[in-house]
Amino acid sequence: MATQVGRAPKALRGTIRVPSDKSLSHRVALFSAMAQGTSRVSGLLDSLDVRSTLRAVEALGATVELAAGEEGLSGTIKGWPAAGPSSPVVPLDCGNSGTTARLLLGALSGYEVVACLTGDESLSQRPMGRVTEPLAMMGATFAEGDGEHREHKKVRPLCAPCAPHPLQQTLPLTVYGSAQLKALDYVSPVASAQVKSAILLAGLTADGVTRVTEPHKSRDHTELLLPAYGVQVAACGLSVTIEGGQRMRASDCMVPGDPSSAAFLLVAAALIPDSEVTVRDVLLNPTRTGFIAVMRRMGADIEILESEQGGLGAERMGAIRVTHRAGLQATTVKAHEIASLIDEVPIMALLAAAAQGETVFEQVGELRHKESDRFAAIVAGLNLLGVEAFAQGDDLHVVGSALQTSGVPLETHGDHRLAMTWSIAALATGQELAIDGLESIAVSYPGFFEDLKRLS
Ligand code: S3P
Repeated sequence: MATQVGRAPKALRGTIRVPSDKSLSHRVALFSAMAQGTSRVSGLLDSLDVRSTLRAVEALGATVELAAGEEGLSGTIKGWPAAGPSSPVVPLDCGNSGTTARLLLGALSGYEVVACLTGDESLSQRPMGRVTEPLAMMGATFAEGDGEHREHKKVRPLCAPCAPHPLQQTLPLTVYGSAQLKALDYVSPVASAQVKSAILLAGLTADGVTRVTEPHKSRDHTELLLPAYGVQVAACGLSVTIEGGQRMRASDCMVPGDPSSAAFLLVAAALIPDSEVTVRDVLLNPTRTGFIAVMRRMGADIEILESEQGGLGAERMGAIRVTHRAGLQATTVKAHEIASLIDEVPIMALLAAAAQGETVFEQVGELRHKESDRFAAIVAGLNLLGVEAFAQGDDLHVVGSALQTSGVPLETHGDHRLAMTWSIAALATGQELAIDGLESIAVSYPGFFEDLKRLS
């Protein structure tokens, strides 16, 4: 069903706290379940994705007692017993959440447990081989399907001739964990925090030192948060190492606002004349805030008002303010910057559409493996808005021009970040835009439209 969104471009003004960070909320939920004792957590994101992780850790034996409040979910998570998680009798439904699926595959690999993971239509098409391949090298086993062979543990080893190539693996998958994993020195072909985290979590129980090296630095929440749970991790350049045999201890964690959600409101303020939006208590981790540097380079008036330790390991938080300023200019977003703004590419492509000149996002092939093929969807959506946008290999080009409507609905493909990007396009043009499927926004930012109303 297409939804009409749009009105005369009206300035956005005010200060707001966006919902809590999704990446950190998943990790706090999972690490608290893996830890011995009871963790006190506050401000977990209350969204569909995080609820998938919470349901899964509960099914594996954690006790989750959280209540919804103004700033998310707060309460306690009691970790699963020292012997580890129990094998769930029904599949763990990861919904739309790649982080739930990939981090769980890693975490479960190191225990004597059998668990089937499923996902929605989108997640069932996303590549899992990028984690199952290294995890299998460490000694975990994976079978496609819902584990009908689970009583014959490891009867279908990953590389049996009948099994598809591991890199083609998708959910549903059954993981057969092992308490005897071997440490791994892994050079990842992709800059992916999900891959890195899955291997590090498996490395926690492995025999020896596990190392992950990436082509570019991906978000480093796992390595920053694990010490809060009593685990030593060493990061050096593009490598992270973890020594096996470390026990996780319960922790107290408070999750700040999500910069990826903030980016939609901040870009809206940069697009709509007379706007000034301040997002407070937001995570300011440099591996997540690449969009700030790019907006600045494009000529946006964006400032970080304060920056302090964020109550969550070594993470920092603060406030970001954007004041509208005319005259945005195109830029080149270099390949090494992409990991630090990977989830912001859709909304940054919309900003590029309003800038003078041709913006290039280098090496964004990873966008093809997100909740939808975001690469194709951004090009198609911007083209429908009258903007010249095209792919050149793995580079995305956007040539700035005035946005126009064609009457054809903009497709979200059930992808929350596309739904929010096209909604901001509607606000910025002030025109009625038909957008196909806005429900997916609940995956990461359930109060998105209420927050926009609050600012207008
Ligand atoms: C995430 C990592 C990123 C990001 C995703 C969340 C995480 O994915 O796109 O939304 O929490 O680790 P990749 O690690 O696959 O790049």
